[in-house]
Amino acid sequence: MKVCRRITFNAAHRLFHPEWTDEKNLEVFGKCAYPNYHGHNYVLETWLEGKVDPMTGYVMDLKDLKKILNQEISERFDHRNLNLDCPEFAHLNPSAENIAMVCWKLIREQIPSSLKLVVRLWETENNIVEYNGEE
Ligand code: NI
Repeated sequence: MKVCRRITFNAAHRLFHPEWTDEKNLEVFGKCAYPNYHGHNYVLETWLEGKVDPMTGYVMDLKDLKKILNQEISERFDHRNLNLDCPEFAHLNPSAENIAMVCWKLIREQIPSSLKLVVRLWETENNIVEYNGEE
């Protein structure tokens, strides 16, 4: 059985590689490399897979998952500049892929190991990435 909790957070970022010239960064990342940052309304889906507890009827109490997501994701990233404000991205380009990996690791530490975890991050309506901890 799979269950999902969805959250949204707003954050600014800039994609660039610090060892590349401005020209090279523009060539690779396009508008995403503009130096003064831009924002996204990120949507993070957290999917858990496991057995339904016969006592509660739940895979996991989604109220508990909500608390974990507030604490680990919203409080950390909502209304932040990911590059400047968040140590997680001090040396990591905040692409959707990397944001999804960071979120996965933060959530993984807080949920029972018996549950499989997949996160799906929507950067825009059309650009979506998914991470299961492997690749
Ligand atoms: Ni962007």
